[in-house]
Amino acid sequence: MSTVLAIETSCDETAVAVVKNRQVCSSIVASQIPIHRQYGGVVPEVASRQHLETINGAIAQALEQAELDWHQIDGIAATCAPGLVGALLVGLTAAKTLCVVHNKPFVGVHHLEGHIYANYLSEPTLEPPFLSLLVSGGHTSLIYVKDCGVYETLGETRDDAAGEAFDKVARLMHLGYPGGPEIDRLAQIGNPQAFALPSGKVSLPSGGYHPYDASFSGLKTAVLRLVQKLEKNGQPLPVADIAASFQETVAQALTKRAIACALDYGLSTITVGGGVAANSGLRKHLQAATAHNLRAIFPPLKFCTDNAAMIGCAASDHLNRGHISPLNLAVQSRLALSQVMELYQNQIEDASPHFSY
Ligand code: KG4
Ligand code: ZN
Repeated sequence: MSTVLAIETSCDETAVAVVKNRQVCSSIVASQIPIHRQYGGVVPEVASRQHLETINGAIAQALEQAELDWHQIDGIAATCAPGLVGALLVGLTAAKTLCVVHNKPFVGVHHLEGHIYANYLSEPTLEPPFLSLLVSGGHTSLIYVKDCGVYETLGETRDDAAGEAFDKVARLMHLGYPGGPEIDRLAQIGNPQAFALPSGKVSLPSGGYHPYDASFSGLKTAVLRLVQKLEKNGQPLPVADIAASFQETVAQALTKRAIACALDYGLSTITVGGGVAANSGLRKHLQAATAHNLRAIFPPLKFCTDNAAMIGCAASDHLNRGHISPLNLAVQSRLALSQVMELYQNQIEDASPHFSY
């Protein structure tokens, strides 16, 4: 049973949480979205500077809300990959410093492993193996979750991530940033059958289509052409109908691939993680899983988008198994999920003294 203070600063949320195994004691998320909105997307330098200004207050607040002091914390964790290097550095450096000051083990966490672990927060009895559909701003993958730290990628996007497609389509319809929630809101009042859009199939050289991979860049281009055509004709843009048709296409494409993959690999549970897991269309479509005797699990909305509770939950599991990271662990902008175990020394005993570097 480990209680972990976890820090997440991989992109535009400064987040700190205290997590005891699969139970959230506190979760602070200081969002930078209003700051980046004026630029239409995340500005990495601005994000790093903002993390620096916010991090200490967020750490103090997380401890206070958990009603714990440092003596009751067993380890300190931070997201170390993948993400914006400058942003990751702020959280990682804060966590390492706290480890030295309070003499605690340090746990570096892969951001996507955190998104997988977000599902344990709502389903504490969940255990591998299961299939995880990861759909965030930077990633879209189908992951075979075999055990803590043991992952196999079975499917992925060949180009844009699902969240990225939402953000790009929103931008070309002159909607706000981030685009996902805006499109989701408009889709509720639009007609999902108004426009037929390509479903992102990936052809195989041998003929036919890849069963699990997707491509969202063609879908984005189809929406661009549609918008250009309507604007050229001087017609008012039917934003709600376009949003609903786009969301329907993405939700259907992800659902079809996830169900096929789970059935092929004999996995009875599909978990969903990442910002797009908050999407109402995807949540509705994945209910179809029950018709195939599969169960689909989503994290609570607040743990779909970036947060530190999911990082703490992953770190707590690693710490329970004696996986701790060296204090010279570096941040990495990219790191495959299959490389997660490279972040840890084999056993907690290997790391004595864990604060030497
Ligand atoms: O997981 P996340 O917070 O950050 C990354 O790790 O990338 O995901 C952010 C992405 C953004 O692209 C955002 O537009 C999308 O998640 N998103 C949504 C919704 N809420 C957030 N996409 C579709 N529907 C939503 N309700
Ligand atoms: Zn994320």
